[in-house]
Amino acid sequence: MLHILAQKNSLLNQFIAELRDKEVQKDSLRFRKNMERIGEVFAYEISKHLDYKEKEITTPLGVSKMNIPTSKIVIATILRAGLPFHNGLLNYFDTAENAFISAHRKYHKDGSFTIQFEHLSSPDIEGKILVLSDPMLASGASMEIAYKALIERGNPKHTHIVTIIASNQGVNYVKKHINMKNVTIWAGDVDDELTSKSYIVPGLGDAGDLAFGSKM
Ligand code: URA
Repeated sequence: MLHILAQKNSLLNQFIAELRDKEVQKDSLRFRKNMERIGEVFAYEISKHLDYKEKEITTPLGVSKMNIPTSKIVIATILRAGLPFHNGLLNYFDTAENAFISAHRKYHKDGSFTIQFEHLSSPDIEGKILVLSDPMLASGASMEIAYKALIERGNPKHTHIVTIIASNQGVNYVKKHINMKNVTIWAGDVDDELTSKSYIVPGLGDAGDLAFGSKM
């Protein structure tokens, strides 16, 4: 299943528009903050798909019966661009456990690249809700590597793959290379084009550099 959040107009349009806007991007604090705010929006939307149990809450004046989420959540993020997005998810899923995946593009002389997986730190994810986030789902290759590395640590009850901007190609790649049983893809927006270097067009540019500065 694929949920594209920007298909229904909301404040999210403004946040994503600011991320994409090359003038607004000059303010890296605002860029990171918008990514964080979008993480909060995603967490709120995903929370509509969790397990809930009724609980009696004692107020100063009486008792209120409320449905409270019971799902155990692990938020996993591919470094480094995803960190502000991760923070936003964690602001709302405030008792979630956390996993981090380090992977990077290794470019070859002909301009092609492969994804180099380096490191995974993760709690046990067996039976839990895995929220796997990467702000840009470009080729889909790093998402595949991250997901497959994580499920070696256990079988999640459900996985929510969350991305701010996806390419059509990336979405199709993930659907083809990951067993989609109990997996949902959430995209803020979906763009049609991917360059030969796997940058999304119009996209927003390099999310990691815009959030944290350029790298060597
Ligand atoms: N990562 C980015 O930061 N931007 C893209 O367009 C693709 C991958």
